[in-house]
Amino acid sequence: MIEIKNLTKKFKTSHGTLAVFDDFNLAVKDGTFLGVQGKSGAGKSTLLSLLAGLQKPDSGSITVDGTEITALDEKQLAAFRNRSIGYISQEQSFLENLTVFDNVRLPAYISRNKSVLLNLFHRLPKNSPEHSAAAGVQPVRSVQNDADVIGDNEIAARTNKLLADLGIAHLANQYPQDLSGGENHRVLIARALINNPKLILADEPTDSVDSDRTTAIITLFKGLAQSGKTVILVSHDEQALRLCDEVIRL
Ligand SMILES: Nc1ncnc2c1ncn2[C@@H]1O[C@H](COP(=O)(O)OP(=O)(O)OP(=O)(O)O)[C@@H](O)[C@H]1O
Ligand SMILES: [Mg+2]
Repeated sequence: MIEIKNLTKKFKTSHGTLAVFDDFNLAVKDGTFLGVQGKSGAGKSTLLSLLAGLQKPDSGSITVDGTEITALDEKQLAAFRNRSIGYISQEQSFLENLTVFDNVRLPAYISRNKSVLLNLFHRLPKNSPEHSAAAGVQPVRSVQNDADVIGDNEIAARTNKLLADLGIAHLANQYPQDLSGGENHRVLIARALINNPKLILADEPTDSVDSDRTTAIITLFKGLAQSGKTVILVSHDEQALRLCDEVIRL
């Protein structure tokens, strides 16, 4: 369950103050596939970023699955985001020197084997969910144990399954810069789903994806919602929005 109460978010611009949200309220039940539409600049990406805890509102509260995320500190937020939220941002942010396979499995290591991050932190894109998750992690000095080894196999199996589900298994060993825009979008989706998040936030994920692939991605989201997860999809695509349980316009 998501509850947004009396949300206000303003930005200072050269023309003065822009109120993107002014006393905005929204409740979304578990298992809902919610579509969000609205013209450019309406605040769709801002809404997802607030739900992911990447920005703070000026006032109001956001509660996700019983946790008031607006009351968490940065470290708690980073851990919550890594565990519970799959965020597919509108901008494509990858670690260019990691393969598709490694990009997808990275968040699983962030949650399971935090020491791995010490080597990666300085290479994570600033403002990415991974970067802020890494910032919230304390150094762990333990060496790998059996549990980590089992974890590695599970993570690899999950990564392979997601790549296959999204039709990009053949790209596992390629690097993001060698992929098309639509292929990279699917890598972002796989990466967002690797930790089996309760809430999936997808910002125009089918942009630059062909119509067959759009159907496959939306069907994947619909299945996730039917299994009890909450999916919030920002989209201009009528074909995608038709499959949502509800659509709101900002
Ligand atoms: N950090 C910021 N500083 C100043 N203004 C901002 C900031 N972030 C967003 N805005 C402004 O807030 C408004 C909403 O932006 P947002 O990115 O949420 O729109 P959107 O609905 O996602 O648009 P699009 O469909 O183009 O992606 C825009 O006018 C934008 O310029
Ligand atoms: Mg946007």
